[in-house]
Amino acid sequence: MDSMDINRLLEIDRQLIWHPYTQMKDFEKRPLLFVDRSEGVYLFDGEGKRYFDTISSWWCITHGHNHPIIARRIKDQLERLDQVHFAGTTHQGPIHLAERLNGLLPERLTKFFFSDNGSTAVEVALKMSFQYWKNIGVENRELFVSLEGGYHGDTIGTMSLGGVAAFEGPFSRLTFDSLKVPAPYCFRCPAGQEKYHPEHGRRCNLECFDIMEDRVRKQAENICAIIVEPLLMGAGGMIVYPEEYLVRLRALCDDIQAHLIFDEVATGFGRTGRMFAFEQAGVTPDFLCLSKGITGGTLPLAVTVTSREVFDAFYDDYVLGKTFFHGHTFTANPICSAAALGSLDVFEDEGVIKRLPKRVEFLQREKMRLFEIPIVGDVRGIGMVAAFELVRDKDKRTPFDSSMRVGWQVYLKGLERGLILRPLSDVIYLFLPLCTTRAQIEEILYATSKTIKEVASGLGIGR
Ligand SMILES: Cc1ncc(COP(=O)(O)O)c(C=O)c1O
Repeated sequence: MDSMDINRLLEIDRQLIWHPYTQMKDFEKRPLLFVDRSEGVYLFDGEGKRYFDTISSWWCITHGHNHPIIARRIKDQLERLDQVHFAGTTHQGPIHLAERLNGLLPERLTKFFFSDNGSTAVEVALKMSFQYWKNIGVENRELFVSLEGGYHGDTIGTMSLGGVAAFEGPFSRLTFDSLKVPAPYCFRCPAGQEKYHPEHGRRCNLECFDIMEDRVRKQAENICAIIVEPLLMGAGGMIVYPEEYLVRLRALCDDIQAHLIFDEVATGFGRTGRMFAFEQAGVTPDFLCLSKGITGGTLPLAVTVTSREVFDAFYDDYVLGKTFFHGHTFTANPICSAAALGSLDVFEDEGVIKRLPKRVEFLQREKMRLFEIPIVGDVRGIGMVAAFELVRDKDKRTPFDSSMRVGWQVYLKGLERGLILRPLSDVIYLFLPLCTTRAQIEEILYATSKTIKEVASGLGIGR
């Protein structure tokens, strides 16, 4: 593109547009990254410079950008049916999609409620669980339990269960009360165990779960549902925790008869190395929330999956008032559903899940090389995700003062090297498309390491 055109567009952007999760003042003097096109694991700016899409465009791009199989499905669908409301009507896309997802999920998860983004997928699960208890005549179960550092979306309901202070803080008076329990964050163990080391893992008895159990049991009668992001807490800092935590959580929910909600908006569709993270723990939730990667990341779509038992609590004569009154204009949009079918085709045709272990193993092994960098305090990861927590003092695990914006400095330097290392505070992470090759992983890790080292040296550490 002509640089005059790009500058003109950037100027209009500056005048008219308010970007999400962005302090616009940061871009007073520097331009936003103007992305002109995409291909595979790459984004290209207006001048043709190539960037690795190292965060899968906010954790959704699954098979790389512009995959021809998904593109064909979308084009074909556009010529047949573009949009129709989903109350009292139905159409091919969501029917085929529900059938195919049903084939991938455990037997209990048989009812599919569509919506259009991750926050609404969770919001639906919360409302269904809440109304379920009312519909079966249980009035006291109104309390939700979630993890500190958890993230489930930006609506008022999902923020009520979120535990990232920077996101939810200003809205605290708008959100409803919930029980927040310290997260299984090994690097900063909530139970005070000092037995975790990035290179050797943990050697504890999951004492963090005892905290969960203790808090929950005190209010067991009032608990409606417990919600977690299974195995990987994304926005809270790419915190990876053991499968056993989920196994024990399932047993606890069964014991106190509360629902268990798995928010797999980010982890679903291969990101943790299996199709769904919960498979790794071998436990089935009562509600499963999916979005982001469901369409391979091309278009917005979401689904909340639950059991026949939950569905039946809403199934009655209209006048009894048990209907689930919730829906969105673009629920199960035909084009988005076609994209999701295209993504499932790619999973099948290219044997995506089967070919993952080698790449995962390579990424998880090679990521450890960055632990030698003096400001990298923790290295963690799962599947195609790797994260590096930056600290001022490695031995004491002391964080940098947030005003230094060390993660942001890495982001800016990364752009120069063709990486999009958009940080979560001072956690730098890679959230790679599943199609990223071994050679690309190697190149990304090398450039990430160079970038972090450069920032460390600018801070006078490890020069
Ligand atoms: C675990 C999880 N839940 C919910 C959401 C919200 O999804 P959306 O941004 O599509 O509303 C996100 C988004 O990052 C997420 O990571």
